[in-house]
Amino acid sequence: MDPIELLRDQHKEISRLFIAVKGAQGQAKEGAIAQLADAVAVHMLVEERNLYELLGPRIAEVSEVLDEHLLLKRKMAELLQCDPSSPIFALQFESFRAQLIQHFGEEEREIFAIAIGNLFPEELEELASSMLETCRDLEGNEPTRAVLSEPAVAAPLQ
Ligand SMILES: [Fe+2]
Repeated sequence: MDPIELLRDQHKEISRLFIAVKGAQGQAKEGAIAQLADAVAVHMLVEERNLYELLGPRIAEVSEVLDEHLLLKRKMAELLQCDPSSPIFALQFESFRAQLIQHFGEEEREIFAIAIGNLFPEELEELASSMLETCRDLEGNEPTRAVLSEPAVAAPLQ
């Protein structure tokens, strides 16, 4: 399995979950938001613990991407504190969606392309299995809570 393809698939799935939240109402909306938050949390942690852990020492752009992750996690934390039926939620949701989708595009164009060009086939294979293991560990284990309780995410915005 191709680890970069796995991350691209997660990007697509998250884009789909944004649409699901937009189309849902009431309790279904709350469920869709929780599902979206879990998918975003798993995805970011999988990238951080596997791909960026591996590429960090080799590629300068990784530190910028990690800064973006922190901002996005804080935005997600703020969004999750909002009442989903309020107009503020709608505004914050749209802002979070736009920023995350832009982040995905940058990752795909910049980092993923470099990863494919720089990693050996054995490294890609090893990366894929460690990613799958991280996904298994996180899924069903409150991944959103894991992200929200990171000290840097919980800290007040400067
Ligand atoms: Fe990312």
